[in-house]
Amino acid sequence: MKELVVAGDPIEHSLSPVMQNAAIEEMGLENEFVYKKKQVKKEDLPKFIDYLKNIEGANITIPHKVQVLRYLDELTKEAEFIGAVNTIYKKDGNLVGHNTDGQGAVEAVLEKTTIESSKACIIGAGGAARAIAFTMALYNIKELIIMNRTVGKAQELSKEINQKTSTNCTASPLSKNVNADIIINTTSLGMKGDKQNQTPIEAKNLQPDMTVMDIVYNPLETKLLKDAKEAGCTIIDGVGMFVNQGALALEKWTNKKAPRKIMRNAVMKSLNG
Ligand code: ATR
Repeated sequence: MKELVVAGDPIEHSLSPVMQNAAIEEMGLENEFVYKKKQVKKEDLPKFIDYLKNIEGANITIPHKVQVLRYLDELTKEAEFIGAVNTIYKKDGNLVGHNTDGQGAVEAVLEKTTIESSKACIIGAGGAARAIAFTMALYNIKELIIMNRTVGKAQELSKEINQKTSTNCTASPLSKNVNADIIINTTSLGMKGDKQNQTPIEAKNLQPDMTVMDIVYNPLETKLLKDAKEAGCTIIDGVGMFVNQGALALEKWTNKKAPRKIMRNAVMKSLNG
């Protein structure tokens, strides 16, 4: 049996195993692959790398997406460009780091609107923001704004994007107001728990011609998305990116097309159950 794991901390509430095992079964690979979750604390990352040598591959999540780079033998061009890894696979015994977060998010956006020539605002400057910002920069975007509570982090990321791409990228502090065609929240504001009633953008600043995406998927309708829906915006929920990044990872491990609809249904069932 080939083992796949999602490694992170906290990991208890991850829906990756439910989503990936539903896909594995639909693909008829349940006797070949199994997908599990594994709690890996910050200090246990080197030990996890040893473990990884004996299994097929992994997804990497908070807090290891950047730290893991130094332990890998190779990086794909996406992982190298973004500077973070969410997927590890093996090639000739080597551990290869890859990133499917950015592509997963961009595919979710492209299902609803065009990126080319648009002005986009990414809220947050952490690992997810990094992947999305760098990937969107490859799609001929007109202007990119990185908005973050800690403005220094937004400035660093925007500087890197201006250096590595031809995108016009600026940094801004979190301001509750923004003028952009596409707004993507990558912070934990709105997430189930004590931040559930919070939102990064005030409702009155949302306009009907905006496309608003939240990468938070629990709850599925965050305060930001609820406000955006009421304002007449096009909305994109966080399950889209989650499914796409998982499907792209599964395709790397199996070399087969992953069933995105089945994966989405499995996630929705868990969220509603
Ligand atoms: P991820 O890998 O999911 O992006 P992360 O790297 O921990 O996670 O990044 C979390 C992002 O959420 C950061 O941009 C963080 O802002 P700071 O850089 O100022 O810490 C943002 N964030 C977390 N809690 C927040 C809050 N209460 N208000 C505003 N932004 C918040």
